[in-house]
Amino acid sequence: MTHSIPAQARDGEPLLVAEGLTKHFPIMGGFPVKRKVGAVQAVDGIDLAVRAGESFGLVGESGCGKSTTGRLLTRLLEPTAGRIHYRGEDITHADRRRLAPIRSEIQMIFQDPYSSLNPRQTVGKIIAGPMEINGIAPPGGREARVRELLEVVGLSPEHYNRFPHEFSGGQRQRIGVARALALEPKVIVADEPVSALDVSIQAQVVNLLARLRRELGIAFLFIAHDLAVVRHFSQRVAVMYLGRIVESGDRDDIYRRPRHPYTHALLSAVPEVSGLSDAAGTARERIRLTGDVPSPILPPSGCRFRTRCWKAREKCAEEVPPLVPAEGDGEGHLTACHFPEFPPGP
Ligand SMILES: Nc1ncnc2c1ncn2[C@@H]1O[C@H](COP(=O)(O)OP(=O)(O)OP(=O)(O)O)[C@@H](O)[C@H]1O
Ligand code: SF4
Ligand SMILES: [Mg+2]
Repeated sequence: MTHSIPAQARDGEPLLVAEGLTKHFPIMGGFPVKRKVGAVQAVDGIDLAVRAGESFGLVGESGCGKSTTGRLLTRLLEPTAGRIHYRGEDITHADRRRLAPIRSEIQMIFQDPYSSLNPRQTVGKIIAGPMEINGIAPPGGREARVRELLEVVGLSPEHYNRFPHEFSGGQRQRIGVARALALEPKVIVADEPVSALDVSIQAQVVNLLARLRRELGIAFLFIAHDLAVVRHFSQRVAVMYLGRIVESGDRDDIYRRPRHPYTHALLSAVPEVSGLSDAAGTARERIRLTGDVPSPILPPSGCRFRTRCWKAREKCAEEVPPLVPAEGDGEGHLTACHFPEFPPGP
């Protein structure tokens, strides 16, 4: 395979970095002159770094701002505030010309394998599309490269002239993966790539992505709405709630020593975790979150989780809890809570 990682992006080095990343969608109203009457605080000051060659999982309930984060990082959306760095370069407001050489290195895979492929184009044309747009001419020609990519993602080179409707959901997602690979990306933002697929197919697609990470050294920002999917794929995980990251850390930190009450609630819904006993030998109870997620137009003051948190006190309404190591945790495990849960015993 022709992928290679340049010297400046060795495994473990920060590749795609967000600092204070914010997206507030304006709400327009008024008559006869429309003006801004409010804002949807979809993403509100998040920090994260996807390192070269790693899989970073971003998890949270529907509407918490995961897709917006993915679209900001791939520069499909313009941020309201904050910065984005790619390989040390500030690309926050880079124009099309400056982005051109970078665009190919940062690719996205979408949730819906049905609507993300043009039904009137053959598979060959769909996968070759990004190469055409970017004027990339592989040594053996585009068609040969597309056939090679079909094999890489577990399809047959014979599928070149078929149309998307001839494929199952899982196969279509493979076509989407092949299209993302056509530009030899260094990082792929995968926005719930398996959520729309049958459970029996999900593991196959996750395994494919895991193989691409291992063999091609591609880093992933893997977006999912529950902790079960990212468990076997992501070395590091961040949990989002209402536009903010509430906890982040290595996989073991999050699954075995969760600190934020919301992470506890999410984990208790993962069957393979909740049914078993944790490191301390105590069974994890199922925590049912009551109430709805508040509107991101008028999020709660202080800690945004407080309206659903069973531990909320006055301080939680008054002060935004900073994302910092909880007492006893290392620099790599961060929690945004005034009264973090204790980790299970020694
Ligand atoms: N273009 C837009 N204009 C206004 N509001 C938007 C826009 N895009 C997203 N939002 C709002 O921003 C919030 C975050 O949306 P986002 O799609 O990022 O969430 P998500 O975590 O990906 O959810 P899901 O799990 O449902 O995909 C939601 O309240 C959504 O309604
Ligand atoms: S800061 Fe308060 S409301 Fe927020 S998660 Fe912690 S205890 Fe709950
Ligand atoms: Mg989404």
